[in-house]
Amino acid sequence: ANPSILILAGDGIGPEVMAEVKKIIGWMGDKRGIHFDVSEDLVGGCAYDAHGTPLTDATMARAQAADAVLLGAVGGPKYDKLDFSVKPERGLLRLRKEMDLYSNLRPAQCFDALADFSSLKREVVAGLDIVIVRELTSGVYFGEPRGIFKEGNERVGINTQRYTESEIARVARSAFELARKRNNKVCSMEKANVMESGILWRDVVTEVHDREYPDVELSHMYADAGAMQLCRWPKQFDVIVTDNLFGDLLSDAAAMLTGSLGMLPSASLGAPMANGRPKALYEPVHGSAPDIAGQGKANPIACILSFAMALRYSFDLGEEATRVEKAVEKVLADGVRTADLMGPEGGSPVSTGQMGDAIISALDAS
Ligand code: NAI
Ligand code: MG
Repeated sequence: ANPSILILAGDGIGPEVMAEVKKIIGWMGDKRGIHFDVSEDLVGGCAYDAHGTPLTDATMARAQAADAVLLGAVGGPKYDKLDFSVKPERGLLRLRKEMDLYSNLRPAQCFDALADFSSLKREVVAGLDIVIVRELTSGVYFGEPRGIFKEGNERVGINTQRYTESEIARVARSAFELARKRNNKVCSMEKANVMESGILWRDVVTEVHDREYPDVELSHMYADAGAMQLCRWPKQFDVIVTDNLFGDLLSDAAAMLTGSLGMLPSASLGAPMANGRPKALYEPVHGSAPDIAGQGKANPIACILSFAMALRYSFDLGEEATRVEKAVEKVLADGVRTADLMGPEGGSPVSTGQMGDAIISALDAS
């Protein structure tokens, strides 16, 4: 059987950018003979409108069974006043939680043609291609005890950084597996100098490496030094693995090395399924962009690059993923730009559909 993809396009610009991904999926079938069983369903506000809930149990079950889920974006002003229990983002949170997606991949990739959008110097970022793997389901955002308590005559706010060996080991494995599909190099970041959880993190990552992935080059860095190095010379890294808190900060900082929100893909991976593929959800970093929804202005590249990640990390089609990325690189080099990629000097932007068509033409020429 063909591998299966569940598309959850969602709200706002979600369906607009996803339409361009569907063009590429169609192209792969027609021109490369690579076929997927694609099905579609509702998530977020549109699911609430249809069913009174942002994610039905039936959709949840289909997501669990799919080889990969592609998500557009959820939310919008129409739903802002809904009760929290049925808000669009609850649909996304339920997917992440029930699929147990503990490994969040945030690439920072800088296409040469966009290097001048970065706040850093061109030579520091041009051609950058790294991935930050952030542990997503544990650590200080979840640890107990937590709360604001009374202590004497003042209040104290408490969060607990807590990691078990198995939580560290599974995200480490996910990073090493990723490294094997890339350049065989992982840098692990923590603060073992001042945190117990950091000492355990370094121990467990080293154990998993020595026992299961001795072929991958492993280094360690304190997360604060890592932040500095990311800004100084990011190309020294390939895969960075880190905890939930440090990963939150480092991935946002790294993303901005590269420019526009409309360019940033992501993946969230869980445990391997029976067929060996990890549970996986791929989505652009951006939201539903209500300010431009319905106007054909959205940049579909973040969503298209998320699909390229699915090709590489769920379907072992690294060469096809590279083909898609090269096509994106080509259209950018040719000066094709959606409005979000125009500098202050302006120019004539293309529409969402025209950007997708330009990428298809570049694929045809590849
Ligand atoms: P946003 O990412 O939707 O938009 C921020 C700004 O970036 C807007 O000016 C938007 O026009 C622009 N932008 C975003 N994606 C773009 C693209 N592909 N092409 C061109 N321009 C793009 O974040 P915002 O405005 O904070 O949130 C809007 C809605 O999206 C809210 O309802 C929020 O809850 C939801 N949201 C959903 C997310 C998800 O589904 N994962 C993530 C973030 C926000
Ligand atoms: Mg953040």
